[in-house]
Order: sequence, then C-alpha cells, then structure tokens
Amino acid sequence: MTPMSAQLPFDAGFGVYIHWPFCASKCPYCDFNSHVRHAPVDEARYVAAFRREIAHQAELAPGRTVSTIFLGGGTPSLMRPGTVGAILDAVAANWAVAPDVEVTLEANPTSVEAARLRGYRAAGVNRVSLGVQAMNDRDLVALGRLHSAEEAMAAVKVAASVFDRYSFDLIYARPDQTPGAWAAELKEAIGHAAEHLSLYQLTIEPGTMFERLRDAGKLVVPDADAARALYETTREVCEAHGLPAYEISNHARPGAECRHNLVYWRYGEYAGVGPGAHARLATATGRLALSTELVPENWLAKVEAEGHGVTEVERLSPESQGDEFLLMGLRLVEGVDQARYEALAGRTLDPRRIDDLARERLVERTPDGKLRVTREGFPVLDAIVADLAA
Ligand SMILES: C[S@@+](CC[C@H](N)C(=O)[O-])C[C@H]1O[C@@H](n2cnc3c(N)ncnc32)[C@H](O)[C@@H]1O
Ligand code: SF4
Repeated sequence: MTPMSAQLPFDAGFGVYIHWPFCASKCPYCDFNSHVRHAPVDEARYVAAFRREIAHQAELAPGRTVSTIFLGGGTPSLMRPGTVGAILDAVAANWAVAPDVEVTLEANPTSVEAARLRGYRAAGVNRVSLGVQAMNDRDLVALGRLHSAEEAMAAVKVAASVFDRYSFDLIYARPDQTPGAWAAELKEAIGHAAEHLSLYQLTIEPGTMFERLRDAGKLVVPDADAARALYETTREVCEAHGLPAYEISNHARPGAECRHNLVYWRYGEYAGVGPGAHARLATATGRLALSTELVPENWLAKVEAEGHGVTEVERLSPESQGDEFLLMGLRLVEGVDQARYEALAGRTLDPRRIDDLARERLVERTPDGKLRVTREGFPVLDAIVADLAA
C-alpha cells in the first residue's frame, strides 16, 4: 500500500495548483495574493523557479498520478502561452499525468487575454475560468474591473469556440442589487454559460479598499437578510436552468463540476506551487500542510537559493484534519461521510449537536447516510462548521 492510499482510503485524485501572483491592476474587493508590477515580469526566471518547486514537492509526494492542474491567481492569463506550456511540461516531468487530466486556467476577459486562449489550448490547457464578475458596465466600473460587459461576452464566445469546457465567475450582493435585477442578470449569464458558473457573494475582506470605503460610509452592501434573498435567487435560477449548486458558490450541469476544486472540498491531496500557494500532502509520516512565501520577489529569491519557496510545514494533528475536512466538505451539496471524519479526527461528531442543527433545519442526512448542510443552512455555513467542530 502506498503512503497515499494509507492516508486516503478513497479516490479523491491528486491535484497540482500553480499560483501566478500578478495582475494588471488591483481590484478594490480582492484580498488574494495578487500584485501589480510596472516593470515587465521575467517569465523565464519564474518558469525556472516553478520547475524547481515542482521537483521539490514531487520529492515529498512521489509516484502520484496527477488528475487535475489549476493555474490560478492573480491573473494567469497575463502569462505567455509558452510559459504555461513550460510549467505543464515541468508537472509532467515529475509525476505521471492521467490521460483525462483536467487543466484549468483562470483568465480575465479582456480582449488581449482572449486573444491568447488558443495558445493556452495548444500548451495543454483544456478548461478556462473567466472572471466576468458583472454583466453591466456600471457595476464593472464599481468593481474596479478593466473590461466592459461587451468585451467579457466576446471573451466568453472565444472561450466557447476554443475549449470544450469553460466557466465564468460573477460576484453578487453588490450595492443596491435587488433579487429581481440579479435574477435577470443571472438568466442572461446562463444564456452564455455552457456547463459551469461560479457565483460568489461579495465579501468585504479585511485590508481591502472596499473595507475602507464601507467603514467610511461610502459603500453600502446588502445586509444579511438581503444577501440571503440573493443567495436564494441564485440557487433557484440556476436550478431551474439545469445548473444546480454542487457547492455553496459553484453550479454545474451534473458531471461538469470543476474536478480540481472537488479535490480540495473532498479533502484530497494536492501540491501547491508558486508565491502564497498551499499544499496538503499525504506522506508516510502524516498529512502535511505546506505554505509558501507570499511576496513574488522573495519567493523567487528563496527558490533560487534553496530549491523551494516553502516557509512552513505543519504535520496536521488528527483534530486539525477533522476541522479542515468539515470546513471543506460541508461546502459541498453532497455532504460529508462521518466515518471518514472519524478516521481523520479520531473522534465522533457530537450526535446532540447534529440533532440540534437538524431540528433547526440547518443540516440533514442524505439518502446514502452522509451529513449535509441544507439550503437554509448555507447562508450560516461558518457558524454550522464552528458548532460541529467545537
Ligand atoms: C482571485 S480571482 C482570480 C481570477 C481573475 N484574476 C479575475 O479576477 O477574474 C477568483 C475569483 O474570486 C472572486 N472574488 C475575489 N474576491 C472576492 C470578494 N471579495 N468577494 C467575492 N468574490 C471574490 C472573483 O469572482 C474572482 O473571479
Ligand atoms: S480579482 Fe482577480 S484581477 Fe482583481 S486583483 Fe484579484 S486576482 Fe487580480
């Protein structure tokens, strides 16, 4: 038995996440590890560093077969297609790659980036996720985006002509957004979607420009009740149009789910390469959580000096594994397997807490015996997880 199968008695696959940390401008709501640089980025130097960090993680997790690769950001569509190809080659040089591997790249829908999509396909990408965010120019400006709605739909059209699989992201619960307006916008979006949509409720993240504006009274976002109504609209409209939620923010035709993100949510194993990437590797000595240096230039210098950018390696305790498993798995509509929780955490979930939450209709049992959050429960998911993990 390999160390991996000893840790994971089910087939979650093995994912590789690659983080490209640069953006053309910083969006006022975003707290991802994304940086704007005015001097050109030396892509060849980054490729050499990615190669070394991929080799380092392959030493920690050898012999895996990669089932999914995700190039996320930041804005990976700022990379030249040749850079993407070289990174994918480095993955294939260090691990076996499944014949049906899913390779997703996040792209911003400007015309410049749309023009590169064909090149990405030639480099080995087979799925794109476009950050459309809103279907009208007024809200795109308010979100600080660099593209127009027309440009975004043109990019979606190019994606549809180049890839069999594509998705796009929208942000809802924007200032003044009503359920009626959101339903109409969502229906328009679904008209352009094929199999998958990511629909994120706007979150005011600490340290962002939106937080400063909100605190100064210059940005008013929907309150909890209004946000709940918008969430309900999201679920209803998507379900009615054949794209049911499979995760709190993600909707797909059955079978078209993002397999990479399922690796995270099903608490599988993944490498994480690049500035600020995270990994969870199942080794002979336990499940490791790796974090890498956040600042791109510091990450680069560290990799060049030491062969990797890893700043922290934590051997996760059974309790932490149980907590992470719940935090990730309860986001999924399919729910979580309690026996797996017990195997990871070394304890059972408190049946009284489950009963209390079930009485409040916040959780329920699935026909196959899993525990899942109900539709009413999803708007208070964090509180449910905290309650069950306590
Ligand atoms: C980190 S971005 C990367 C993709 C790409 N750079 C873009 O902006 O389109 C991934 C997605 O996270 C979502 N997102 C980022 N910050 C958010 C926030 N504060 N609230 C809700 N969604 C957010 C956006 O929908 C975005 O498309
Ligand atoms: S939302 Fe996307 S484009 Fe905007 S700053 Fe964040 S990562 Fe960059």
